[in-house]
Amino acid sequence: MREINQFTLTDAVKQSFDTEEGSRFKFLLETFIDHLHDYTREVNLTHDEWMAMLDFLYDCGKISTPERQEFILLSDVIGLSALVDMINTRGGATEGSNLGPFYLDDAPVKELGADLAEGRDGVSILVHGIVRDTLGNPLPGAVLDTWQADSSGTYPIQEQERGQDKYDLRGKLTTDAQGRYYYTTVLPKPYTVPYDGPVGDLLRAGNRHAWRAAHLHYIIRAKGMRSITTEVFFENTEYVDNDAVFGVRKSLIAKVKPVRKDAQFDYPLARQPDAEVHYDFVLAPEG
Ligand code: BEZ
Ligand code: FE
Repeated sequence: MREINQFTLTDAVKQSFDTEEGSRFKFLLETFIDHLHDYTREVNLTHDEWMAMLDFLYDCGKISTPERQEFILLSDVIGLSALVDMINTRGGATEGSNLGPFYLDDAPVKELGADLAEGRDGVSILVHGIVRDTLGNPLPGAVLDTWQADSSGTYPIQEQERGQDKYDLRGKLTTDAQGRYYYTTVLPKPYTVPYDGPVGDLLRAGNRHAWRAAHLHYIIRAKGMRSITTEVFFENTEYVDNDAVFGVRKSLIAKVKPVRKDAQFDYPLARQPDAEVHYDFVLAPEG
């Protein structure tokens, strides 16, 4: 009879799995068990605390639907999503940030210069820049898939019952021969992550707010390059220093510069902007 106690248990649990020697799965599983057991010993976890944690996970599962992913939200508010994004950013490439729950993979194709806001209210901004590789070469034909909230902090996809089109304020734009992209839209406002579930309870228990700094979302893809999922934030705006999901990186903050009413641009634009936001993206090679 082998002796199992709180110190030998961890190895016994790891050995109970017959996983392939040297595999990534074995490594992930065993390291997870090590850290979880170490944590449990370190904090001297009580039965009540252990049950409270399991109830919390149960509640996260209960409220989750394909549209309401409470476990992803949990990962976001405890910085796990941000950490995975940071670890997986390639040297020299634009830093990654949250995908969030509002991405649609079938956004409409938009021409360069289009107004993604299609005349909506708000501060009209020209968003423009160049997509380059890590050597500084422009990437013609790169596709920017973008989506955002409106000037009241709402994604049209959240307002479908009120007649909004879920494809509004989003689109796929392709960079021109010089790697340039340009379009107009409205400046988005901050909004809260959902806080009517267990993750909201966690935020309240920790005296935390649920606000995200205003941002534009992007997935950028180009042939032979590693795609990036990221967000662009705005200098000196609310919550940029305390975003609820830790999405803001210094390198992802752009300036919003007012433009004159009669300003001329190098680009044909569907709407005269009130301000401009310039941001260049960098993609690393695949592999
Ligand atoms: C978003 O950026 O859309 C988002 C990110 C994390 C949680 C909720 C929303
Ligand atoms: Fe968002």
